[in-house]
Amino acid sequence: MGKSWRLRFLVVSLIAVLCVPFALLERQNRSTTQAQEGGQPAVAQTWGSNHVGKPVPDYITGDECLFCHRGIGSTWQDNRHQLTMRKAFNSPEIAKLAEIGEASRFIKDIQFVMGNTRQTRFLRRTDKYGQLDLLSAPLTHGEAKSAKRNSFGEAVWDSDVFGKSCAGCHATGVDNRTHAFSALSLDCFTCHGNPSLDHTEDTTKVALSKARGDSARVVVSICGQCHIRTGKSRSTGSPFANNFVTGDNLFLDLDVNWSDGKIQSLNPIDAHVLHNVRDVVTTGSTVTCLSCHDVHKAGTKRHKALADHRLCYTCHTPGKPKSERRPLDVHSDVCRY
Ligand code: HEC
Ligand code: HEC
Ligand code: HEC
Ligand code: HEC
Ligand code: HEC
Ligand code: HEC
Repeated sequence: MGKSWRLRFLVVSLIAVLCVPFALLERQNRSTTQAQEGGQPAVAQTWGSNHVGKPVPDYITGDECLFCHRGIGSTWQDNRHQLTMRKAFNSPEIAKLAEIGEASRFIKDIQFVMGNTRQTRFLRRTDKYGQLDLLSAPLTHGEAKSAKRNSFGEAVWDSDVFGKSCAGCHATGVDNRTHAFSALSLDCFTCHGNPSLDHTEDTTKVALSKARGDSARVVVSICGQCHIRTGKSRSTGSPFANNFVTGDNLFLDLDVNWSDGKIQSLNPIDAHVLHNVRDVVTTGSTVTCLSCHDVHKAGTKRHKALADHRLCYTCHTPGKPKSERRPLDVHSDVCRY
């Protein structure tokens, strides 16, 4: 190889090396503008850390918590968070399924049911740890009934959907590399994180305790990990964040379109969630889910005493008495009802 070739090679390599930082800068600029157009406020990502790529913590299970917290136990068994997935045995949904001719052939395999008053889904164990097959046909009730027909005739067991598209919000402790969950339904860990046992002496050591006074952005990250049903994980592409643990900043991994247009396109339930979270992460509002909702007693009594605010009008009508409300029907592309 001649001298001039070596020189030319050197110059080309030098140019290439010099271009890398510019290309990176350019990419960064582009993603900032894209984010702004998508309505992702930069401020949502300016604090905290996350658990992307780390193992699911070895958390204390609900049975252990309830051994001491018996007061919580009395309402916990009826709490929707604990009931979102339950054993199929003797459930009223299985009884309904038995009445649908085409569906009855699946009953012997169904081990779990999932869902509430609008839709029920059916699941069975697989031979893989922490994974379930989801029956493709749903049983629809109430307002969802007209939207999607029950179609058990063509139904199949699907192994790919639950772990990648549902588990992060309906099960506990999902490992996004294997799509395996640690526990069915939603355990204390999903909201309270993994408190050390010395929280019994000092309650600031457990999330959501009275003494701790978690900030509004911590609270909306906790509830938003499941109740924002329009986000996408930057690291996995799933509709739920990668290994979120209480205390994390949800929006480091979850990409959300915060635009007015997006909020207005949603039903009042999904809209008031997104609107509330946006107010907290962009304007520093201190009104959170917990200003209105009591999770353990499952009520919204406290919301009626709040001062009027733009958020109220996702459900009420401006200039009209509060007894007037938009119908609160809910549909969700992510949950497929
Ligand atoms: C981003 C979190 C998230 C993901 C992902 C998710 N869900 Fe949901 N799902 C929720 C929340 C939150 C609710 C409760 C909404 C409410 O009551 O307003 C819910 C409710 C439901 C319901 C109950 C509807 C009713 O009221 O009867 C069903 C059934 C359901 N989801 C199925 C699924 C299925 C199947 C998947 C996967 C294909 C899935 N969901 C994925 C968060 C999620
Ligand atoms: C869906 C989220 C969520 C889950 C799951 C959850 N909690 Fe809570 N918990 C809360 C919130 C929020 C508060 C704070 C009370 C408030 O401000 O409404 C709370 C408060 C508490 C308190 C304080 C007592 C009180 O009434 O203020 C205890 C004790 C508690 N939770 C225990 C548990 C145990 C034990 C489990 C599991 C069996 C559990 N929680 C599951 C959200 C949750
Ligand atoms: C060994 C018994 C024990 C276990 C196990 C235990 N706790 Fe506690 N916890 C206590 C005691 C005692 C207190 C302080 C007194 C109180 O407020 O009830 C407390 C306080 C709390 C509080 C704050 C209550 C407040 O005043 O705001 C929360 C929330 C809580 N625990 C949640 C949990 C969760 C979630 C688990 C499981 C991960 C758990 N605890 C496991 C005994 C226990
Ligand atoms: C890990 C996921 C997850 C987290 C975290 C979570 N939720 Fe939920 N939540 C759900 C799902 C799923 C349902 C629907 C369960 C069902 O009916 O099948 C639900 C139901 C609800 C409901 C309706 C309850 C009812 O009685 O019909 C309210 C209100 C609610 N959640 C508020 C909250 C608040 C406030 C927080 C934060 C403190 C929170 N949730 C945290 C997943 C979650
Ligand atoms: C300004 C008060 C307010 C705030 C803030 C608020 N909510 Fe609500 N939310 C309500 C009211 C009121 C309802 C209607 C409850 C009813 O049907 O009785 C509701 C309904 C819901 C439902 C549907 C409950 C059901 O019965 O199906 C869910 C889920 C929910 N909220 C979650 C959240 C979450 C998560 C946040 C925080 C990001 C939040 N909300 C913030 C007032 C509020
Ligand atoms: C997610 C929907 C939702 C949001 C957001 C909401 N409300 Fe409500 N509101 C309801 C529902 C549903 C009822 C009726 C159920 C009940 O009484 O609990 C109600 C009832 C009320 C009532 C009692 C009205 C009557 O005469 O029956 C008042 C007052 C009220 N809301 C005030 C507010 C204020 C103030 C805000 C904002 C801070 C707000 N609401 C936000 C859904 C909502």
